[in-house]
Amino acid sequence: MNILIKNAKIVDCVQNFIGDVLVEGGRIKEVAKSINKEGVEVVDAKGLTLMPTFIDTHAHFREPGLTWKEDIETGSKAAVKGGFTGVCLMANTKPICSSKEVLEEVRRRGKEVGLADLHQCLSITKNFDGKTLEHLDELRDDKEIKAISDDGVGVGNGKVMHDALLKAKEYGWVVMSHAETSEFSRMDMRAAENMMTWRDVELCKLTGGRLHMCHVSTKESMEYIINAKLLGTNVTCEVTPHHIALTREVNDYRVNPPIREKEDVAYLINAIKTGMVDCIGTDHAPHTEEEKKKGSPGMVGLETAFSICYTTLVKENGLSLNKLSEIMSKNPSEILGMNKGTLGIGRDGDLVLVDLDKKVKIDSESFASKGHNTPFNGMEYYGEVQMTIKGGKIVYKK
Ligand code: DOR
Ligand code: ZN
Ligand code: ZN
Repeated sequence: MNILIKNAKIVDCVQNFIGDVLVEGGRIKEVAKSINKEGVEVVDAKGLTLMPTFIDTHAHFREPGLTWKEDIETGSKAAVKGGFTGVCLMANTKPICSSKEVLEEVRRRGKEVGLADLHQCLSITKNFDGKTLEHLDELRDDKEIKAISDDGVGVGNGKVMHDALLKAKEYGWVVMSHAETSEFSRMDMRAAENMMTWRDVELCKLTGGRLHMCHVSTKESMEYIINAKLLGTNVTCEVTPHHIALTREVNDYRVNPPIREKEDVAYLINAIKTGMVDCIGTDHAPHTEEEKKKGSPGMVGLETAFSICYTTLVKENGLSLNKLSEIMSKNPSEILGMNKGTLGIGRDGDLVLVDLDKKVKIDSESFASKGHNTPFNGMEYYGEVQMTIKGGKIVYKK
């Protein structure tokens, strides 16, 4: 597909200038001050900012088996409405994604919907039983697997996590860790996260496997990760929009890991500014209103991520837009092995047009997601996605 975007403020992790971008055959063909080309669809983007689309390392689309909460079609619609065209899906579906059948079903549905490129995680332990790893060996030749995760629960047994990291290292996969020591969950959610983060970082050093820490939310956990990174450890980490925009004092919305204290939020934001956080992961976790009333943890996040991150990090904390692009596009794309995330020549023609000056009042009723569970309803942020393009084709337009 071919498209020419003109007169945009062009921003990725390194560029920032007013100009044009040409996508041909689904890939970025040219980026320059002025491009003229006959016979292509032209979009005049004067006053808007053009960025590589966002890539989410962490979302729950609930298919198969839990599709009253979300499905691949509504999840994909929410993604492109939020400016995302690459999404990594967690394995806590029903059945849990421990088999070729579930992997292939999700991939088939993702392609059928065709709005975003989905990567489905395989579970670390079979059916989240906390111990069985044989399915990893059985699926070792599946070239589409990039990441494995038991997200939703922590892998309680350290030896099992150790062995999973070794297998993943051999098969070229990244292990995504939901750090929560279940024995401590009821008692102390901070200790529950910190202990498993510390353990997994140590196991990463020991095995040399590729570890990605999901939704890091405490100062201590981030500290362990930073110290390991400074030693050259093979660990990356993500932070969610809600863990940098909310504090427990103000809004203690139910989510795992929980909303933390002011000091944690400040520490996470500083870690982003100093380059220690690899990416933003939304942890988009749709639930019905009834399920939320009964205590299901989580919130939807794809449609609000950019405005929350832009406002909190760029407007309020002085992060550069280039750096935001790095953590919302380039780094997550690299972690998932996608050909996206920058406006480099030859990258997928996945572009998002945003209006940075537009003030938006979050309205959960207007979400494309089936989930309306968000603590951000009614809150005001800056930055609105106007158009999302995937492979040169417009997949969302406001
Ligand atoms: O809040 C959460 N919701 N945390 C998790 O780990 C799981 C997720 C979900 O699947 O709803
Ligand atoms: Zn999780
Ligand atoms: Zn999750």
